[in-house]
Amino acid sequence: KQALTITKLQRMKKEGEPITMLTAYDYPSAKLAEEAGVDTILVGDSLGNVVLGYNTTIPVTLDDMIFHARSVARGAANTFRIVDMPFMTARISREDTLRGAARLMQEGHAHSVKIEGGEEVAEYVRACVDAGIPVIGHIGLTPQSVHQLGGYKIQGKLEAEAARLESDALALQQAGAYGVVLELVTGTIATRISRKLDIPTIGIGAGAGCDGQVLVYHDVIQYASPYIPKKFVKTYANVGGIIREALGSFVQEVKAGSFPSEEHTFGAAAQQPAALYG
Ligand code: KIV
Ligand code: NA
Repeated sequence: KQALTITKLQRMKKEGEPITMLTAYDYPSAKLAEEAGVDTILVGDSLGNVVLGYNTTIPVTLDDMIFHARSVARGAANTFRIVDMPFMTARISREDTLRGAARLMQEGHAHSVKIEGGEEVAEYVRACVDAGIPVIGHIGLTPQSVHQLGGYKIQGKLEAEAARLESDALALQQAGAYGVVLELVTGTIATRISRKLDIPTIGIGAGAGCDGQVLVYHDVIQYASPYIPKKFVKTYANVGGIIREALGSFVQEVKAGSFPSEEHTFGAAAQQPAALYG
């Protein structure tokens, strides 16, 4: 299987085929997402929340993103991978932005980067695109600006906010972005923006009017995700519960002396395993 391209994404929008995106942060999550047949993988800076245990995405660094993106690339070599530009890396200057994006592509093996923000980051989106780095935008609730926004609030409820979202989306398209993520935007506004844009919109908490949907891996499988339940998340399995139960069984069996049993124990004639892995 070949990784999909930004050309294919445009075609999917035109043909009305919904685009699927899941986040992944390491080899196993990437491998399972690829095996599940997801169209695109986002190495999101939600890494900070769901993997690193921070309260926000702000502490996540470019080095963190690269470290995790590399392992995602090994787990999902044949899936189109987008890596987030973390806090302030696409804000200071074109030069700074290009250096950061280049590292995500070169060291993080990304196919594309994602930049949070609207019109105010359009020049940085343009700089990347001109350098051959595909960019997907991200507007609405932009978690890197959570302290400025005053919390994780739904965006686009006020008419002025809605108008701003629309002009931001158009500015990103104009700057050469091949798509835009809409996060926590009312269904009406998300639908309106999706119709107005030629490039696909990928929604999270933005309703069915978007051209695609993205969810955070740990939310989908309830894997020790810190903020469940959320109205916009659908949880498809309680993997965290299964893991906790399995780990608890191990602890109990060792305490009770029932593991390891005879069948897990080497006799004198046993062949040593050549290797644990590989
Ligand atoms: O970091 C992330 O997971 C994201 C998605 C929620 C779009 O940016
Ligand atoms: Na993100």
